[in-house]
Amino acid sequence: MEPANKNGNTTNEEGTLSRIIKSLKSVEMVCEGTHFDGDIPHTFITFGASGDLAKKKIYPTLWWLFRDNLLPKSTKFCGYSRSHLTVKELRQKCEPYMNVQKNEMERYEQFWSLNEYVAGNYDGRTGYEFLTKTMEEMESKSKANRIFYLALPPSVFENVTVHIKNICMSRNGWNRVIIEKPFGRDAASSKALSDHLASLFTEDQIYRIDHYLGKEMVQNLMTIRFANKILSSTWNRENIASVLITFKEPFGTQGRGGYFDEFGIIRDVMQNHLLQILTLVAMEKPVSCHPDDIRDEKVKVLKNIRSLTLDDMVLGQYIGNPEGEGEAKLSYLDDKTVSKDSTTPTYALAVLEIKNERWEGVPFILRCGKALNERKAEVRIQYHDVSGDIFEGNSKRNELVIRVQPGEALYFKMMTKSPGITFDIEETEMDLTYEHRYKDSYLPDAYERLILDVFCGSLMHFVRSDELHEAWRIFTPILHQIEKERIKPIPYVYGSRGPKEANKKCEQSNFKYYGSYVWKNPEK
Ligand code: BG6
Repeated sequence: MEPANKNGNTTNEEGTLSRIIKSLKSVEMVCEGTHFDGDIPHTFITFGASGDLAKKKIYPTLWWLFRDNLLPKSTKFCGYSRSHLTVKELRQKCEPYMNVQKNEMERYEQFWSLNEYVAGNYDGRTGYEFLTKTMEEMESKSKANRIFYLALPPSVFENVTVHIKNICMSRNGWNRVIIEKPFGRDAASSKALSDHLASLFTEDQIYRIDHYLGKEMVQNLMTIRFANKILSSTWNRENIASVLITFKEPFGTQGRGGYFDEFGIIRDVMQNHLLQILTLVAMEKPVSCHPDDIRDEKVKVLKNIRSLTLDDMVLGQYIGNPEGEGEAKLSYLDDKTVSKDSTTPTYALAVLEIKNERWEGVPFILRCGKALNERKAEVRIQYHDVSGDIFEGNSKRNELVIRVQPGEALYFKMMTKSPGITFDIEETEMDLTYEHRYKDSYLPDAYERLILDVFCGSLMHFVRSDELHEAWRIFTPILHQIEKERIKPIPYVYGSRGPKEANKKCEQSNFKYYGSYVWKNPEK
């Protein structure tokens, strides 16, 4: 069997073919209305090509898209960064992450033959002029479309975007710019960045990546909600008691806490990934599936949420587990790249309320943490208790669980009569586990979907500047308070479920945890 690919799927040769066919079908849908003109050259430029993100994510994604014939025929790739590298050296750096199969070697060689690399500074014009000359030679036509991917630290953002605008844009064809978080670190810095970008590019040229918007089950939220009468009619405060959106990772900073310590889990995961999921769970039905109709509704949800206070939150920081192994023995503060007295939270829980007719009084609980007991991202919609109980309190609440990862699944927890002669009741589930139900489907990695969207010009799964503005409005006051007052996070043991106080907060927020039910992946 082939090794698991980056999203945990396993593939085999037979699977490769059906994967391509299925992927092509989905591309037709994604690109509806967009026609790749095979004759127009497309150049994909990766700034920060020698960095971690480029080698681990961007180049592998480009290769997978190229391998599966999903890119316009005329696409070429050009890396740019300060390091003096040859394409061969760049290739060596990327190699461990490319997941190339033996039968794909010819195609793989082809991919690298379409690559160029330019070494240059991020300030000054010279490097960019050389890059432009290189692109023109690669394109060899007067018309070309260009995508600029900024896999760069925020410190060079301003310089690079100004030079892209002044020197590198195609004069005859479209230009699109992809940027990665952090989009600032609070409302003011995010606004400065948005204003800066708006002075150079139009909003429809800017693709702000939140890679959670590229995940299968996050993209599925719209369909689940708006294509199922049974769910759409119960999706409100009359039926739903609380909503819990969880992100857990079973590892800590692994000695690379420098970046994390500056940002913390709220900026790293909650303010973007979890809040984006919340908006898709809570928004009203958009007028259509047009990206702006969807994003209009997402913004309305955010506008109905007030800024968070300390009372809405539980903050934690992990400490080592003396009985653990390897990294698990170490506390966050043992990471040499983290300051010794850091109060940066590695765990956070926040309770948000959406003050509108549909949701008033329903707590939306966002919780995320590193160094916890498992890897998991999911949405849990918990329904109210049944009124007028006749089962002596043995009935448990219904829950709809949308499991984002690992193992995409949708399952509905419900009560049933225990099978057989007894009249007892028990918890069970209606289970749509993808691995089981869609055995031959290939679920592309989030980056594959999102980069393809950029080629297609689809902004549906990207963050608009007004969404970003509202997201920062909700989180900025609490982030400033945490930093100014150096609020001490509650210690929790590496590998545990997080601080106990978080469970209490969930309970107070109308979420019932019974502990009596464990979902079993039917394939395992
Ligand atoms: C990133 C965060 O945005 O998402 C990381 O910066 C986190 O800290 C990662 O590990 C999780 O992504 P995924 O796709 O592995 O769930």
